[in-house]
Amino acid sequence: MSHTMMTRRQMLRAGLLGASSLLLPMRRAAAQSAMFAPFQVPLPIAPVLTPTSGGSPGKKGGSTGTDFYTITQQPADVQIIPGGPTTRIWGYNGLYPGPTIRAKRGRPVIVRHINNLPDPTVVHLHGAHTPPAYDGFPIDYVEPGQHFDYKYPNDDERGATYWYHDHAMDITAHHVYAGLAGFYILEDDAEATLPLPKPPYDIPLVFQDRSFYPDGSLYYDSFDSNGFLGDHFLVNGAITPVLQVSRRKYRFRLLNGSNSRVYVFGLDNGRPLTQIASDGGLLGAPVQRDTIAMAPAERTEVVIDFAAYPVGTRVVLMNYLEQDTGKYADVLNLGPGRPVMAFDVAYNLGRRETDTSSVPGVLRPVQRLREADAAVHRRFEFGRSNGAWVINGQLFDPERVDFRPRLGDTEVWELVNGSGGWVHPVHLHDLQWQILDRNGSPPAAHEAGFKDVFFLGANESVRVIGHFTGENCVGRYQFHCHNLEHEDMRMMSRWDVVR
Ligand code: C2O
Ligand code: CU
Ligand code: CU
Repeated sequence: MSHTMMTRRQMLRAGLLGASSLLLPMRRAAAQSAMFAPFQVPLPIAPVLTPTSGGSPGKKGGSTGTDFYTITQQPADVQIIPGGPTTRIWGYNGLYPGPTIRAKRGRPVIVRHINNLPDPTVVHLHGAHTPPAYDGFPIDYVEPGQHFDYKYPNDDERGATYWYHDHAMDITAHHVYAGLAGFYILEDDAEATLPLPKPPYDIPLVFQDRSFYPDGSLYYDSFDSNGFLGDHFLVNGAITPVLQVSRRKYRFRLLNGSNSRVYVFGLDNGRPLTQIASDGGLLGAPVQRDTIAMAPAERTEVVIDFAAYPVGTRVVLMNYLEQDTGKYADVLNLGPGRPVMAFDVAYNLGRRETDTSSVPGVLRPVQRLREADAAVHRRFEFGRSNGAWVINGQLFDPERVDFRPRLGDTEVWELVNGSGGWVHPVHLHDLQWQILDRNGSPPAAHEAGFKDVFFLGANESVRVIGHFTGENCVGRYQFHCHNLEHEDMRMMSRWDVVR
């Protein structure tokens, strides 16, 4: 029986999950992964993908106005465990994490995804304003041996840190855990004029937790439908790595790419981080933060100035959150923390460059959407019923349209966590939204920009406002819990934008 025909729950019942072609071995004995000493490996930085045609604007060959990329989804054996056996991953171009795409606002991109994996796959560009045909609806499979051209108009209103990842129905958690995720950075001209640090001092960091068998293979517990927690922190695919930094400012684009783990990041020396952006791009103004909580799929951009430290200083990025189950996280429950990665202030460029970057006091005016302009209010309760996670009492059915927002309308959605015992990072496709209020209070400064993931802690409710735009953004969309195990258990809803 093909598992595309079965739901995750059916597979769980049949005991098939994990015996699938994913090559994540199903051994019930607990994984005995030794703890590895931190800071043994340098931070990998995923390569920026070069277009196969199109080229950058202004260059010869760049006249088509579209950049064309090719990505092959394939298994690979990579060295993750320092000095240990290799690990079989599933990666975009065989990389874990996948290559980074740097796109320009207003310049379309076509990514040809070739599926050389044994499973059907789906690619979603998380955060982007993408027409439904290319948004990665969970049953729009690319079958093994087939390919599909995903077209991204990049007509979003702002640049932002997006990411692309697998979205195949019922098996997304396995696929992302196995490695199918990468960055997609949308640059915009207005942002480029700001004096913020630029590449190579603009570095994406994806945080993922993973467990391993002694033979190096990935350990994944298919039966933990609360949400899987791995026992090692990986950054850009390396276990607690270290980055050598110069005494200057860096921009880091943080992505929580974990299946269910929530992090509360902070520096071990207690100094604040300067947050400049959230999911949907730059905030109106920078915000100083002692700690930064990040739920799965959230992006936070920060600037750290290492000029504040003498050469030889090691600054450790810590996760202070105490979390022992995927189903629950209390972002106020902080402990002594565990290291996630280190920055070694080790040299000063070697080129006697001076750091001309800065963080302006105004990043980008954020025009607030007004509740008075909202045509429609909707309420969605994320709850539990008969041992399953439901939205307004229902499980996802890809054929059932739950509601129909109208193109051009402004809508207010109230996202409510109806269960005290679980937490849900809710992700809305299609648009970037603004938070009107969280538990009745106006959003904190770091949540007052554009967002597409909303963490619902125990008994929390968040009201968000969005404006449905885009002549081509009509048709099938979805929202769901981005705890990937919850998502695969069908905590998802289909809605269609109509004219
Ligand atoms: Cu990042 Cu619908 O997903
Ligand atoms: Cu998305
Ligand atoms: Cu959830």
